[in-house]
Amino acid sequence: MQPLCLIEDIDEGDARGFNLNGSAIIAIKKQGELYLYQNSCPHRGINLEWQPDQFLDPDRQLIQCASHGALFLIESGQCVQGPCFGEHLKPIKFSVQDKQVLVELPDTLLSPNPQAGND
Ligand code: FES
Repeated sequence: MQPLCLIEDIDEGDARGFNLNGSAIIAIKKQGELYLYQNSCPHRGINLEWQPDQFLDPDRQLIQCASHGALFLIESGQCVQGPCFGEHLKPIKFSVQDKQVLVELPDTLLSPNPQAGND
């Protein structure tokens, strides 16, 4: 488990993006519950946001991908509208100890990123 942030770093009803050792993670707090997912849209495998920490729809009830507008349930990560309908954001295992959010990154996120700039 690795420390990600403090629980109070995420406001109620809001979302934040984190980069932990090169792994992009989103954290959402809704009704006191915390939800963590890999920041990767199932449609194209790219980050969900265009603007920092902008992960929610205008009503702040769903996670929204900025690229093609896919909408995901905060509680399950399931896509309920958009090109990846029925697919899921990948959850991140975590625990909270002494207000510290600790995450367990999956092996796929720990391996070196093969993407390299070509220009
Ligand atoms: S990349 Fe997210 S909806 Fe297309």
